[in-house]
Amino acid sequence: MTTKTILITGAAMGIGRAVAELHAARGHNLILMDVDGGALQRTAATLGDNVVVSVGSVADPEASERAVAAGLARFGGLDGLSHNAGIQRYGDVVDTSLALWNEVMAVNLTGAFLVTKAAMPALRASRGAIVLTASIQGMAAQKGALAYVAAKHGMLGLVAGMAMDEAERGVRINGVAPGSVDTPMLRDAIALDPDPAALEKVVDDMHPLGRRARPEEIAAVIAFLLSDEASFMTGETVRVDGGVLSRIGGAPKAKPEGGA
Ligand SMILES: NC(=O)c1ccc[n+]([C@@H]2O[C@H](COP(=O)([O-])OP(=O)(O)OC[C@H]3O[C@@H](n4cnc5c(N)ncnc54)[C@H](O)[C@@H]3O)[C@@H](O)[C@H]2O)c1
Repeated sequence: MTTKTILITGAAMGIGRAVAELHAARGHNLILMDVDGGALQRTAATLGDNVVVSVGSVADPEASERAVAAGLARFGGLDGLSHNAGIQRYGDVVDTSLALWNEVMAVNLTGAFLVTKAAMPALRASRGAIVLTASIQGMAAQKGALAYVAAKHGMLGLVAGMAMDEAERGVRINGVAPGSVDTPMLRDAIALDPDPAALEKVVDDMHPLGRRARPEEIAAVIAFLLSDEASFMTGETVRVDGGVLSRIGGAPKAKPEGGA
């Protein structure tokens, strides 16, 4: 397999960390970016030598430019971007303050735009690939997470729009839309509930597969979309959701055959 250089945001933990581990195991060069410098260093220390670490927020345009520049200086090019940095905040339209709205948009939507913008010249040069980690909340909505839902819907627009803009230059842009994934983000969200144990069960049961995902199960799809195996895919956001958005309720309970 050809060695590629991949920029991974949100790489310190959760889905981003799983993407980093998978690509390191496959022998690729990694540029890891995260706002949590301590956790990022600890993750990087487990991933071998072909790793560049860049600490900064995706909401800061200069931080993404620094990460790309550091990677280019070390590896001489860039072939892929896996963007996973994100935050989860709660509130409906009345109790979401403008400050909270702006924070979520800055990280979850503008951050995706900024890191892609910083990486694009190098990705055009390599005819590379991008995968944005969105959410099934970019396709449907949970109650009380308005800013998050709006930002994730926006990410699907980024995928579609950039895919059309870049197709003629050979850069592919896709997204993944995970259901619930066992990461610090999900565990923190569950801990907010007055009855976390009951919510754990609700979260697992709402997926037709009967459980939440492991981060590695999302990373596998991201790696596929970044790879040449997905060479005819662009503009698509793939659900990796254990069937959540495929379910329609209201079916009658099955009766024994011949039963009345
Ligand atoms: N966990 C889930 O159930 C789930 C479901 C659907 C979508 N997602 C999405 O997947 C992505 C990764 O989520 P996760 O569950 O791994 O989250 P996580 O909180 O476990 O990890 C996110 C990582 O992003 C980093 N980060 C946060 N803000 C940043 C910023 N401004 N700049 C740089 N790095 C920043 C954090 O430090 C952390 O290392 C997010 O975009 C999230 O919205 C998660």
